[in-house]
Amino acid sequence: MPRPGHCQEVCELLERHSLRLSSSSSRCIGRLVAWVPSVDGVDTIRLYRSTIGKKAVMAVTGGVLFLYVIVHMLGNLSIFAGPGTLDAYGKFLRDIGAVWPVRAALLACVVLHFVAAYQLTARARKARGRYEHRRVVQGSYAARTMRWGGVIIGLFVVYHLLDLTVGWLNPNGVHGAIHANVVADFQHWYVVLAYAVAVLALGFHIRHGVWSATQTLGVTTSRVVGLAAAVVVCGGFLSVPFAVFTGLVS
Ligand code: HEM
Repeated sequence: MPRPGHCQEVCELLERHSLRLSSSSSRCIGRLVAWVPSVDGVDTIRLYRSTIGKKAVMAVTGGVLFLYVIVHMLGNLSIFAGPGTLDAYGKFLRDIGAVWPVRAALLACVVLHFVAAYQLTARARKARGRYEHRRVVQGSYAARTMRWGGVIIGLFVVYHLLDLTVGWLNPNGVHGAIHANVVADFQHWYVVLAYAVAVLALGFHIRHGVWSATQTLGVTTSRVVGLAAAVVVCGGFLSVPFAVFTGLVS
Protein backbone atom coordinates (compact mmCIF):
# COMPACT_ATOMS: atom_id res chain seq x y z
CA MET A 1 0.00 0.00 0.00
CA PRO A 2 1.25 3.56 -0.67
CA ARG A 3 2.65 5.40 2.34
CA PRO A 4 0.90 8.65 3.36
CA GLY A 5 2.40 11.66 1.59
CA HIS A 6 3.93 9.44 -1.05
CA CYS A 7 2.33 11.41 -3.89
CA GLN A 8 3.86 14.61 -2.48
CA GLU A 9 7.29 12.92 -2.56
CA VAL A 10 6.89 11.90 -6.20
CA CYS A 11 5.77 15.40 -7.23
CA GLU A 12 8.72 16.99 -5.39
CA LEU A 13 11.12 14.56 -6.99
CA LEU A 14 9.79 15.30 -10.48
CA GLU A 15 9.96 19.07 -9.87
CA ARG A 16 13.51 18.77 -8.57
CA HIS A 17 14.33 17.24 -11.97
CA SER A 18 12.84 20.32 -13.71
CA LEU A 19 9.47 18.68 -14.47
CA ARG A 20 6.94 21.36 -13.51
CA LEU A 21 3.52 19.87 -12.89
CA SER A 22 0.10 21.41 -13.39
CA SER A 23 -2.45 20.80 -10.65
CA SER A 24 -4.32 18.33 -12.88
CA SER A 25 -1.09 16.37 -13.48
CA SER A 26 -0.47 16.25 -9.72
CA ARG A 27 -4.00 14.96 -9.17
CA CYS A 28 -3.42 12.38 -11.87
CA ILE A 29 -0.21 11.20 -10.20
CA GLY A 30 -2.04 11.05 -6.88
CA ARG A 31 -4.60 8.65 -8.35
CA LEU A 32 -1.84 6.57 -9.91
CA VAL A 33 0.02 6.35 -6.64
CA ALA A 34 -3.12 5.21 -4.86
CA TRP A 35 -3.56 2.50 -7.48
CA VAL A 36 -0.01 1.13 -7.78
CA PRO A 37 1.03 -0.94 -4.72
CA SER A 38 4.12 1.25 -4.14
CA VAL A 39 5.82 3.93 -6.21
CA ASP A 40 9.27 3.58 -4.74
CA GLY A 41 9.64 0.92 -7.43
CA VAL A 42 10.87 -1.77 -5.07
CA ASP A 43 7.56 -3.38 -4.05
CA THR A 44 6.10 -3.26 -7.55
CA ILE A 45 9.16 -4.90 -9.05
CA ARG A 46 9.31 -7.42 -6.21
CA LEU A 47 5.64 -8.21 -6.81
CA TYR A 48 6.29 -8.77 -10.53
CA ARG A 49 9.24 -11.01 -9.73
CA SER A 50 7.07 -13.28 -7.57
CA THR A 51 5.17 -16.16 -9.16
CA ILE A 52 1.82 -14.74 -8.07
CA GLY A 53 2.78 -11.34 -9.58
CA LYS A 54 3.55 -12.94 -12.94
CA LYS A 55 0.30 -14.92 -12.78
CA ALA A 56 -1.59 -11.70 -12.07
CA VAL A 57 0.09 -10.05 -15.10
CA MET A 58 -0.99 -13.04 -17.22
CA ALA A 59 -4.54 -12.83 -15.85
CA VAL A 60 -4.92 -9.08 -16.42
CA THR A 61 -3.30 -8.98 -19.91
CA GLY A 62 -5.22 -12.14 -20.85
CA GLY A 63 -8.40 -10.40 -19.68
CA VAL A 64 -7.73 -7.38 -21.91
CA LEU A 65 -7.00 -9.66 -24.91
CA PHE A 66 -10.15 -11.65 -24.16
CA LEU A 67 -12.18 -8.43 -24.09
CA TYR A 68 -10.74 -7.50 -27.50
CA VAL A 69 -11.67 -10.96 -28.84
CA ILE A 70 -15.29 -10.52 -27.66
CA VAL A 71 -15.60 -7.02 -29.19
CA HIS A 72 -14.00 -8.25 -32.43
CA MET A 73 -16.36 -11.24 -32.55
CA LEU A 74 -19.40 -9.00 -32.06
CA GLY A 75 -18.08 -6.67 -34.80
CA ASN A 76 -17.69 -9.66 -37.15
CA LEU A 77 -21.26 -10.79 -36.45
CA SER A 78 -22.50 -7.50 -37.91
CA ILE A 79 -21.82 -9.11 -41.31
CA PHE A 80 -25.19 -10.87 -40.86
CA ALA A 81 -26.94 -7.47 -40.84
CA GLY A 82 -26.11 -6.81 -44.51
CA PRO A 83 -23.19 -6.06 -46.86
CA GLY A 84 -22.58 -2.46 -45.76
CA THR A 85 -22.60 -3.06 -42.01
CA LEU A 86 -19.12 -4.56 -41.51
CA ASP A 87 -17.52 -1.87 -43.69
CA ALA A 88 -19.42 0.85 -41.81
CA TYR A 89 -18.24 -0.62 -38.48
CA GLY A 90 -14.59 -0.62 -39.68
CA LYS A 91 -14.94 2.96 -40.94
CA PHE A 92 -16.47 4.03 -37.61
CA LEU A 93 -13.49 2.61 -35.70
CA ARG A 94 -11.06 4.43 -38.00
CA ASP A 95 -13.05 7.71 -37.82
CA ILE A 96 -13.04 7.84 -34.01
CA GLY A 97 -9.28 7.18 -34.02
CA ALA A 98 -9.59 3.93 -32.05
CA VAL A 99 -7.40 1.82 -34.32
CA TRP A 100 -3.86 2.82 -33.27
CA PRO A 101 -4.47 3.14 -29.49
CA VAL A 102 -6.11 -0.30 -29.55
CA ARG A 103 -3.21 -1.75 -31.56
CA ALA A 104 -0.67 -0.30 -29.09
CA ALA A 105 -2.58 -1.68 -26.09
CA LEU A 106 -2.92 -5.11 -27.74
CA LEU A 107 0.79 -5.24 -28.58
CA ALA A 108 1.74 -4.31 -25.00
CA CYS A 109 -0.59 -7.01 -23.62
CA VAL A 110 0.70 -9.67 -26.03
CA VAL A 111 4.34 -8.91 -25.10
CA LEU A 112 3.65 -8.92 -21.33
CA HIS A 113 1.50 -12.07 -21.61
CA PHE A 114 4.20 -13.89 -23.57
CA VAL A 115 7.11 -12.79 -21.35
CA ALA A 116 5.29 -13.71 -18.11
CA ALA A 117 4.27 -17.10 -19.59
CA TYR A 118 7.84 -17.81 -20.66
CA GLN A 119 9.25 -16.85 -17.26
CA LEU A 120 6.65 -18.92 -15.37
CA THR A 121 7.37 -21.96 -17.56
CA ALA A 122 11.13 -21.61 -17.07
CA ARG A 123 10.65 -21.21 -13.31
CA ALA A 124 8.35 -24.26 -13.04
CA ARG A 125 10.77 -26.36 -15.10
CA LYS A 126 13.70 -25.33 -12.93
CA ALA A 127 11.78 -26.05 -9.70
CA ARG A 128 10.61 -29.47 -10.90
CA GLY A 129 14.05 -30.35 -12.24
CA ARG A 130 15.42 -30.46 -8.70
CA TYR A 131 12.97 -33.13 -7.57
CA GLU A 132 11.86 -35.19 -10.55
CA HIS A 133 13.42 -37.54 -13.07
CA ARG A 134 14.01 -35.79 -16.43
CA ARG A 135 11.63 -38.05 -18.38
CA VAL A 136 8.74 -37.06 -16.13
CA VAL A 137 9.41 -33.34 -16.60
CA GLN A 138 7.03 -32.82 -19.50
CA GLY A 139 4.62 -30.38 -17.89
CA SER A 140 0.94 -31.11 -17.46
CA TYR A 141 -1.39 -31.71 -20.41
CA ALA A 142 -3.04 -28.31 -19.86
CA ALA A 143 0.29 -26.46 -19.72
CA ARG A 144 1.47 -28.09 -22.97
CA THR A 145 -1.85 -27.34 -24.69
CA MET A 146 -1.60 -23.70 -23.58
CA ARG A 147 1.94 -23.40 -24.95
CA TRP A 148 1.18 -24.94 -28.34
CA GLY A 149 -2.18 -23.16 -28.50
CA GLY A 150 -0.39 -19.86 -27.88
CA VAL A 151 2.06 -20.59 -30.72
CA ILE A 152 -0.79 -21.47 -33.14
CA ILE A 153 -2.73 -18.31 -32.18
CA GLY A 154 0.43 -16.17 -32.61
CA LEU A 155 1.12 -17.60 -36.09
CA PHE A 156 -2.55 -17.22 -37.00
CA VAL A 157 -2.60 -13.53 -35.99
CA VAL A 158 0.40 -12.83 -38.28
CA TYR A 159 -1.36 -14.63 -41.19
CA HIS A 160 -4.67 -12.94 -40.33
CA LEU A 161 -3.14 -9.43 -40.36
CA LEU A 162 -1.49 -10.09 -43.75
CA ASP A 163 -4.82 -11.45 -44.99
CA LEU A 164 -7.52 -9.08 -43.75
CA THR A 165 -5.70 -5.97 -42.43
CA VAL A 166 -2.84 -5.52 -44.94
CA GLY A 167 -4.58 -7.56 -47.66
CA TRP A 168 -1.43 -9.12 -49.19
CA LEU A 169 -2.65 -12.71 -48.77
CA ASN A 170 -6.30 -11.95 -49.55
CA PRO A 171 -7.82 -12.95 -52.93
CA ASN A 172 -9.56 -9.53 -53.11
CA GLY A 173 -7.20 -7.43 -50.96
CA VAL A 174 -8.82 -3.99 -51.31
CA HIS A 175 -8.10 -1.76 -48.30
CA GLY A 176 -11.33 -0.82 -46.47
CA ALA A 177 -13.48 -3.27 -48.46
CA ILE A 178 -13.83 -5.49 -45.40
CA HIS A 179 -16.99 -7.35 -46.43
CA ALA A 180 -15.66 -8.14 -49.92
CA ASN A 181 -12.30 -9.29 -48.48
CA VAL A 182 -14.00 -11.61 -45.97
CA VAL A 183 -16.30 -13.07 -48.65
CA ALA A 184 -13.39 -13.58 -51.07
CA ASP A 185 -11.44 -15.42 -48.35
CA PHE A 186 -13.99 -17.96 -47.27
CA GLN A 187 -14.84 -19.22 -50.76
CA HIS A 188 -11.82 -21.49 -50.29
CA TRP A 189 -12.11 -24.57 -48.07
CA TYR A 190 -8.44 -24.38 -47.03
CA VAL A 191 -8.87 -20.81 -45.74
CA VAL A 192 -11.99 -21.89 -43.80
CA LEU A 193 -9.98 -24.84 -42.42
CA ALA A 194 -7.05 -22.59 -41.37
CA TYR A 195 -9.42 -20.20 -39.58
CA ALA A 196 -11.31 -23.12 -37.96
CA VAL A 197 -8.06 -24.63 -36.57
CA ALA A 198 -6.98 -21.25 -35.18
CA VAL A 199 -10.39 -20.50 -33.64
CA LEU A 200 -10.51 -23.94 -31.99
CA ALA A 201 -6.99 -23.39 -30.61
CA LEU A 202 -8.23 -20.04 -29.30
CA GLY A 203 -11.23 -21.80 -27.73
CA PHE A 204 -9.00 -24.27 -25.83
CA HIS A 205 -6.71 -21.41 -24.77
CA ILE A 206 -9.66 -19.36 -23.49
CA ARG A 207 -11.22 -22.35 -21.68
CA HIS A 208 -8.09 -22.98 -19.60
CA GLY A 209 -7.01 -19.30 -19.48
CA VAL A 210 -10.32 -18.07 -18.06
CA TRP A 211 -10.31 -20.84 -15.46
CA SER A 212 -6.71 -20.08 -14.48
CA ALA A 213 -7.24 -16.28 -14.40
CA THR A 214 -10.43 -16.46 -12.35
CA GLN A 215 -8.56 -18.66 -9.85
CA THR A 216 -5.55 -16.32 -9.67
CA LEU A 217 -7.79 -13.28 -9.14
CA GLY A 218 -9.89 -15.19 -6.59
CA VAL A 219 -13.15 -14.87 -8.54
CA THR A 220 -14.18 -18.53 -8.82
CA THR A 221 -12.69 -22.02 -8.98
CA SER A 222 -15.43 -23.36 -11.25
CA ARG A 223 -14.49 -24.51 -14.77
CA VAL A 224 -17.93 -23.74 -16.19
CA VAL A 225 -17.21 -20.04 -16.88
CA GLY A 226 -14.14 -20.91 -18.99
CA LEU A 227 -16.04 -23.56 -20.93
CA ALA A 228 -18.98 -21.20 -21.60
CA ALA A 229 -16.62 -18.43 -22.76
CA ALA A 230 -14.84 -20.84 -25.14
CA VAL A 231 -18.11 -22.11 -26.63
CA VAL A 232 -19.39 -18.54 -27.22
CA VAL A 233 -16.10 -17.40 -28.82
CA CYS A 234 -15.78 -20.48 -31.06
CA GLY A 235 -19.44 -20.31 -32.13
CA GLY A 236 -19.31 -16.57 -32.81
CA PHE A 237 -16.08 -16.63 -34.82
CA LEU A 238 -16.78 -19.86 -36.75
CA SER A 239 -20.25 -18.72 -37.85
CA VAL A 240 -18.76 -16.16 -40.29
CA PRO A 241 -16.48 -18.45 -42.37
CA PHE A 242 -19.15 -21.17 -42.47
CA ALA A 243 -21.91 -18.71 -43.42
CA VAL A 244 -19.81 -17.42 -46.32
CA PHE A 245 -18.68 -20.90 -47.41
CA THR A 246 -22.25 -22.22 -47.49
CA GLY A 247 -23.52 -19.15 -49.37
CA LEU A 248 -25.63 -17.78 -46.49
CA VAL A 249 -23.59 -14.55 -46.67
CA SER A 250 -22.30 -13.28 -50.01
C1 HEM B 1 -12.74 -16.35 -37.89
C2 HEM B 1 -13.21 -15.21 -37.96
C3 HEM B 1 -12.52 -13.88 -38.06
C4 HEM B 1 -12.87 -12.95 -38.99
C5 HEM B 1 -13.92 -13.07 -40.07
C6 HEM B 1 -12.04 -11.78 -38.75
C7 HEM B 1 -12.10 -10.62 -39.46
C8 HEM B 1 -11.20 -9.58 -39.38
C9 HEM B 1 -11.14 -8.45 -40.26
C10 HEM B 1 -12.08 -8.23 -41.43
C11 HEM B 1 -10.13 -7.64 -39.86
C12 HEM B 1 -9.67 -6.31 -40.51
C13 HEM B 1 -10.46 -5.17 -39.97
C14 HEM B 1 -10.10 -3.84 -40.62
O1 HEM B 1 -9.31 -3.81 -41.56
O2 HEM B 1 -10.64 -2.82 -40.18
C15 HEM B 1 -9.54 -8.26 -38.70
C16 HEM B 1 -8.48 -7.74 -37.97
C17 HEM B 1 -7.96 -8.32 -36.84
N1 HEM B 1 -8.34 -9.49 -36.25
FE1 HEM B 1 -9.78 -10.74 -36.94
N2 HEM B 1 -11.22 -12.03 -37.67
C18 HEM B 1 -11.46 -13.30 -37.23
C19 HEM B 1 -10.84 -13.93 -36.17
C20 HEM B 1 -9.89 -13.35 -35.34
C21 HEM B 1 -9.33 -13.97 -34.17
C22 HEM B 1 -9.72 -15.35 -33.67
C23 HEM B 1 -8.43 -13.07 -33.65
C24 HEM B 1 -7.57 -13.18 -32.40
C25 HEM B 1 -6.97 -14.24 -32.01
C26 HEM B 1 -8.43 -11.91 -34.48
C27 HEM B 1 -7.64 -10.80 -34.29
C28 HEM B 1 -7.57 -9.73 -35.15
C29 HEM B 1 -6.64 -8.62 -35.00
C30 HEM B 1 -5.60 -8.46 -33.88
C31 HEM B 1 -6.88 -7.74 -36.06
C32 HEM B 1 -6.15 -6.43 -36.37
C33 HEM B 1 -6.98 -5.26 -35.96
C34 HEM B 1 -6.31 -3.98 -36.44
O3 HEM B 1 -6.15 -3.80 -37.64
O4 HEM B 1 -5.96 -3.20 -35.60
N3 HEM B 1 -9.33 -12.10 -35.50
N4 HEM B 1 -10.21 -9.43 -38.42
